[in-house]
Amino acid sequence: MAEKWKTGVLGWIDARFPLSQMWNEHLAEYYAPKNFNFWYYFGSLALMVLVMQIVTGIWLTMNYKPDALLAFNSVEYIMRDVNWGWLIRYMHSTGASFFFIVVYLHMFRGLLYGSYKKPRELIWIFGMIIYVCLMAEAFMGYLLPWGQMSYWGAQVIISLFGAIPGIGESLALWIRGDYVISDVTLNRFFAFHVIAVPIILLALVVMHILALHEVGSNNPDGVEIKKTKGPDGHPVDGIPFHPYYTVKDIVGVIVFLIFFCIVVFFMPELGGWFLERDNFIPADPLKTPEHIVPLWYFTPFYAILRAVPDKFLGVVAMGAAIVLLFFLPWLDRSPVKSIRYRGILYKLALVVFVISFLALGYLGGEPATPVLTNFARLFSILYFAFFAALLLIPMFEKTKPVPDRVTSK
Ligand code: HEM
Repeated sequence: MAEKWKTGVLGWIDARFPLSQMWNEHLAEYYAPKNFNFWYYFGSLALMVLVMQIVTGIWLTMNYKPDALLAFNSVEYIMRDVNWGWLIRYMHSTGASFFFIVVYLHMFRGLLYGSYKKPRELIWIFGMIIYVCLMAEAFMGYLLPWGQMSYWGAQVIISLFGAIPGIGESLALWIRGDYVISDVTLNRFFAFHVIAVPIILLALVVMHILALHEVGSNNPDGVEIKKTKGPDGHPVDGIPFHPYYTVKDIVGVIVFLIFFCIVVFFMPELGGWFLERDNFIPADPLKTPEHIVPLWYFTPFYAILRAVPDKFLGVVAMGAAIVLLFFLPWLDRSPVKSIRYRGILYKLALVVFVISFLALGYLGGEPATPVLTNFARLFSILYFAFFAALLLIPMFEKTKPVPDRVTSK
């Protein structure tokens, strides 16, 4: 194996660039725990979706016009006249939703196995910054088709900044670049969506993975495999990432693509969940749609916002719902990482948290009737209660003994 790095083109490059070193450090000699399960597919899938979004995005940009007079029609042109334009556009719009599905599952894995705990706090922090950037990326991308929901969704979200006392109105004006959402806003959102945020995202993903490879991966048992090394100096419970997990991840990619293609080819709007009906109507600043709702991946936070009667406090609660996640590594006081060895109370708290998040997601997409608003209040309280539970549960939790070695094969 090592010979191939010494001769030929690879040898030539390797004498001038740390190619073999990088290959070994991050793939062939990166020892990952041998007991990865289903939940460990989503990191590599997120990486794949990121690449797919960038590639389809580049091709969309070739025919899209960031101009308030032309944008809507340029998207219709892509859908009808550009060769394979419909496929590229549906891959990009479906990819956005799948990105969030994958990232939410990836984050949930962290909660299952305590992957954010010492020494992986920084991996989690990078992950959270990625998540916030991803939300900004999706939000700005959604303005580009210049449909009714693009326009009015952006209007609602940017006006939230206006609720901040003192600086609010100036801040909203600064973001829009105009007194209303206009061509100026569209142009700057386009610049951020196609260049600025993707570059930041890529850089963050590199840092995320570098931080991961510095400390090594966690696993479903929450056991540190580096503690038990064999005579060869490698963890006895570790296997080289390549070829073992590259092959495993290819299986994940194939299964993912099956689901992805079903949506792209047979139900690209997914009943309004992935592409909203109102967004097939050109933006009209004089006509407000009856229900302004963001896409599903924002609705849990939108529900929290609407659940609070005061606009500013609603913005604060919505922000807190995200900011608290950054602090998980320090809020969760349990000495045990994996849910397998934690007590019933944590399991219960996690179930309630997931149900609350899903319920808020549903409620945020529905009209805010008095009954539904009361439900949103209840689930918002339960959502926040999870963070208090993380602090309190370890005080009287009876955990199971964590084994020295991973238990599953
Ligand atoms: C573009 C988005 C993202 C990409 C491409 C990405 C990529 C990856 C990859 C390839 C891994 C290693 C494989 C695996 O453990 O599944 C990983 C691990 C991890 N990621 Fe992400 N990630 C992303 C977003 C996030 C977010 C939003 C969070 C949480 C806020 C997060 C938290 C973590 C943690 C804690 C680990 C370590 C898991 C462990 O060792 O058990 N990631 N990520």
